[in-house]
Amino acid sequence: MMPKIEISASVLSADFACLKEAMKRCHSSGIDSIHLDIMDGHFVPNISFGPVVVRALRPLTKLPMDAHLMIENPQWYIDDFAKAGADIITVHAECFSPPSLKPQQANEFPKKTDSVDEGKLLEVIKKIKSANKKVGLAFNPPSPINITDKLLNKLNEVLIMSVNPGFSGQTFIQEVLPKIRELRKRYKGNIQVDGGINDQTASQVIKSGANMLVTASYFFNAKDPKKVVELLKISH
Ligand code: DX5
Ligand code: ZN
Repeated sequence: MMPKIEISASVLSADFACLKEAMKRCHSSGIDSIHLDIMDGHFVPNISFGPVVVRALRPLTKLPMDAHLMIENPQWYIDDFAKAGADIITVHAECFSPPSLKPQQANEFPKKTDSVDEGKLLEVIKKIKSANKKVGLAFNPPSPINITDKLLNKLNEVLIMSVNPGFSGQTFIQEVLPKIRELRKRYKGNIQVDGGINDQTASQVIKSGANMLVTASYFFNAKDPKKVVELLKISH
């Protein structure tokens, strides 16, 4: 059976001077979880916010909070985000490139990798789980999902980026659809898609096998956010 469709709101498009209001908007619209886009200016060409803001959000919502770490050394910050109140910690596969692969230039984006050092990644998965948090693994648009079933089945969710990470409000990259279809054939868990989600693209990603949709601009710019969440949930 297909897991149920859930909508996660990314606060990246919220008004940061009124995060309380942003949480109220999520609660009254049927949002299922809060997505926190953490950017360090190295893994992506933008800087957003860190654990201080996550800690400030924690008392404002009972919804699960997913910290999407778009940062170069996620292993150094697991404890900080766990203590700040994240329930799910999502790290990027590109941060676990085997040393044999040619490193990208610092200013080359998006980061990509053809394979993953599973030993190194496993250590981080263990660290997240021993903090009693759920674990997600994210893949940028150019990175194939080149991991073993053994590792895949240790994850609580896989996040497929459908824009090059760094900014909200970008256009959905159609080329990621086959990646979602292929993953669904071998993975029964949560497949989350992040970037450029609206009622049109939601239908495409759900048909391809995704069950969790992240939305920043489509949700926070909507005049009727409740309607938007309903539309996203039924758009397949
Ligand atoms: C991009 C972030 C996304 C982004 C989505 O780097 O990971 O979560 O906020 O924004 P929209 O929904 O506007 O494409
Ligand atoms: Zn994100």
